[in-house]
Amino acid sequence: MPLVILEHPAEHVALLRLNRPEARNALSPELRAELRAHFLALAGESAVRAIVITGNEKAFAAGADIRSMVEIGPGEMMQRGDDLNWAAIRHCPKPIIAAVNGYALGGGCELAMHADIIVAGEGALFGQPEVKLGIMPGAGGTQRLARAVGRYRAMLMLLTGDPMTASEAYAAGLVSKTTPDEDTVSEATAIAARIAAMPPLAVAEIKQVLHGGLDASLDTALQLERRAAYLLFDSADKREAMSAFLEKRKPVFSGT
Ligand code: CAA
Repeated sequence: MPLVILEHPAEHVALLRLNRPEARNALSPELRAELRAHFLALAGESAVRAIVITGNEKAFAAGADIRSMVEIGPGEMMQRGDDLNWAAIRHCPKPIIAAVNGYALGGGCELAMHADIIVAGEGALFGQPEVKLGIMPGAGGTQRLARAVGRYRAMLMLLTGDPMTASEAYAAGLVSKTTPDEDTVSEATAIAARIAAMPPLAVAEIKQVLHGGLDASLDTALQLERRAAYLLFDSADKREAMSAFLEKRKPVFSGT
């Protein structure tokens, strides 16, 4: 049985389901390798324009696999090359929507924070409990969390290991939207389908500029934004979208 199941729930939408229910979807090296392979393949698949990632009703992912880490040292951790697994997700040019139910802890919370949009079921819990294991987050759990919720709320979570509920995470800015638990995946899929129906070049530029700009000075970020905005005026989809508006018809996008 695959550890990551690929489905196509809507036109131009891929859905990845983590499938290690017996371990609350803990991110074993094998699961991470499958996830990486999927993201690399989907990035190059022109029919796919948005990606939903989810777990099951109990756990999005309970973090790194503790069983596979208990006896290993820093050398072996380095040799695992886990950053290449994360890089495949981090550099994915297509929008990623996380549909989170249950536990999103440690590497699971970091995985959710690799998404561009997070839809959380009301029972979801987001946390970085690494401190309780004598370690710390290594895939963005200190940096992305602080950027999302601010340093004081992040520090409280990181130093106590206490999780945030979905409604707390929404109020703090970690979550884009909350839903009843049973609607999380369908809501995330519906959002993905709406984005997949947008002109793909504009979607890709918006994603890239938002992420790139947040890590730059405001002046550099605004320049990045301006140049990308000008560039889109050369796309066939811009002409099609504006003509369709004026002609009061539905646009047909070519992705060029
Ligand atoms: N790694 C390995 N196995 C895990 C796991 C994990 N992160 N989380 C859960 N499991 C396993 C349990 O060992 C258990 O297996 P057995 O049935 O064989 O005993 C099974 O999943 C079910 O777990 P529980 O019985 O504990 O289920 P629960 O519903 O009562 O609790 C939970 C769920 C709150 C997620 C709890 O399992 C838990 O606290 N898990 C650990 C969470 C954690 O500390 N994550 C951070 C890991 S470190 C990290 O992520 C940082 C990094 O990248 C290096």
